[in-house]
Amino acid sequence: MSTRKLLLGAVFSCALSFAGAAAAADMTIGFSQIGSESGWRAAETSVSKIEAEKRGIDLKIADAQQKQENQIKAIRSFIAQGVDAIFVAPVVATGWDDVLGEAKDAEIPVVLLDRTIDTKDDSLYLTAVTSDTVHEGAVAGEWLAKEVAGKDCNVVELQGTVGSSPAINRKKGFDEAIASHSNIKLIRSQTGDFTRTKGKEVMESFIKAEGGGKNICAVYAHNDDMQIGAIQAIKEAGLKPGTDILMVSIDAVPDIFKAMADGEANATVELTPNMAGPAFDAVAAFKADGTVPPKWIQTESKLYLPDTAQAEYEARKDLGY
Ligand code: AHR
Repeated sequence: MSTRKLLLGAVFSCALSFAGAAAAADMTIGFSQIGSESGWRAAETSVSKIEAEKRGIDLKIADAQQKQENQIKAIRSFIAQGVDAIFVAPVVATGWDDVLGEAKDAEIPVVLLDRTIDTKDDSLYLTAVTSDTVHEGAVAGEWLAKEVAGKDCNVVELQGTVGSSPAINRKKGFDEAIASHSNIKLIRSQTGDFTRTKGKEVMESFIKAEGGGKNICAVYAHNDDMQIGAIQAIKEAGLKPGTDILMVSIDAVPDIFKAMADGEANATVELTPNMAGPAFDAVAAFKADGTVPPKWIQTESKLYLPDTAQAEYEARKDLGY
């Protein structure tokens, strides 16, 4: 038998070992959610519930309060309950092999939502529904490079949770995008843990260290919530965010559109909160006839600017996030 046939056979039999007859409506899915650190995270949770309800899926959500150990406990509990599939939004990238190995042994497919993991064994999960987070950072960096072309610009960066895949990748993408622009200097970079409160605190310390904010030309935040915290800190320091200091971030939550419409933010890169919809579809197809989804189901990343901010705010403000 050719190597290709052998490989196809292996993939197929592995698929069948996970496959059952459960239709979407009969499924119970456990979702180990990180917590509610940001508006985007709250939106992902509520969209997941809506998408589950549409399909008649029983979705059990466990809030890990930002702790990996709680996520591991929740996954073990879902395995013990014999759920049809497990969704995990992994708070950090490392340390998942053992527990995901237990899910694999129990023949429960796992789907990663919005963040990826570091593992040598990608058979530990069925698929990952995420954006290209390196690209998101690059989009932010390219936007800034165009905006400040020909001018010197000192940038401060608010990083997401240390060790999380979006924090690692959004930094990488941004750094790569500005690398060839010698006018742009990253002068400070610190984690704000994806929260508004910490984003504000860290921005206050950046302002203090950088001449009351006068040395800062732009803030790049790995999410909108930290950016909203930074906007407050800049205003309290007597400067105008969006004018004195350029503001670019990621997520596209309603509050950042409000800030853009008010002239206090300049750009955001959208991350859809609907990660669960494609994940439910992938699991349903897999359970129905063993269809193996691609290892990465990529969601779109789109740049938004102030010209459409008011309309985007109006369209999103009642979505509950
Ligand atoms: O993993 C996605 C990131 O996690 C979002 O950008 C951020 O808001 C959230 O906390």
